Amino acid sequence: MKIFRTAREMRAWSRAQRAAGKSIGFVPTMGALHEGHASLMRAASERDDVSVISIFVNPAQFAPNEDLDQYPRTWAADLALAERTGIDAIYAPTASGMYARDYSTFVLVGGVSEGLCGASRPHFFRGVATVVTKLFNAVEPDHAYFGLKDAQQCAVIQRMVRDLDMGTEIVPMPLIREEDGLALSSRNKYLSPEERKRALCISRSLFEARAMLEAGERDAAVIKEAVRDGMSPTDIDYVEVVDAASMRPVDEIRGPVFVAVAANVGVTRLIDNILFEPESPKS
Ligand code: PAJ
Repeated sequence: MKIFRTAREMRAWSRAQRAAGKSIGFVPTMGALHEGHASLMRAASERDDVSVISIFVNPAQFAPNEDLDQYPRTWAADLALAERTGIDAIYAPTASGMYARDYSTFVLVGGVSEGLCGASRPHFFRGVATVVTKLFNAVEPDHAYFGLKDAQQCAVIQRMVRDLDMGTEIVPMPLIREEDGLALSSRNKYLSPEERKRALCISRSLFEARAMLEAGERDAAVIKEAVRDGMSPTDIDYVEVVDAASMRPVDEIRGPVFVAVAANVGVTRLIDNILFEPESPKS
């Protein structure tokens, strides 16, 4: 497995792979890898000829009061997992290599980035879109795999790629959970045993929402109220039912939607969602 620290080295390797006729699959990450990341890494190594992950805790997507310094860094375990999942190369640039002191270029994606996490973390999607652009410029991937754990992030990247005519195809991948329902996240490491138990009300509330939707409930207000009730042991940031393509809130569920939530458990911010696709009415 190769490890590259600069965009120049990364790009030289990718171009050599492309010249040899190989497709390149890419999984951008911030490290502290878990089974959610591993599902993306396996998909990239199985579906593409060669596969690359990036490990970079991106300062541009953290606000000054957020957890940049505490964000878990588990380099040795990350390397071992990358080996096990068949990854060919790791791109792990340094913060100073990525952002020059007078760095001044950012990518702003409108529309899909505005509600949900974009409303509570105004800096966030600008940082994500900018770093993903830079990572794509270094790796030049054919396919990039993104988890629906971060459904809005995936929509923002799809919109950016479409709007800017980028040559990478975005592959959305299912959200992976622990056996008891908790959505896998690098930030779960922050939870005390008591908080982890409390956090389970988040997925439980979403599963209840899914059961209501499957039973035919189509009023978003009713769904949101049930989810809010179920999540009351947490400090709720948002509970929304949004159109799966535009990420705009809907009142009535007619097409694919995400029921998307964010909440603080202690000082840890967790996000989760379910995707619901109503069967199209029989003609
Ligand atoms: P990170 O949180 O490390 O996540 C990297 C990728 O793993 C994202 O596509 C995310 O959706 C996916 N992922 C995380 N948990 C998952 C789960 N439980 N199931 C399925 N996929 C999961 O997202 C980021 O990093 C950053 O914002 C990044 C895109 C790398 C830009 O810095």
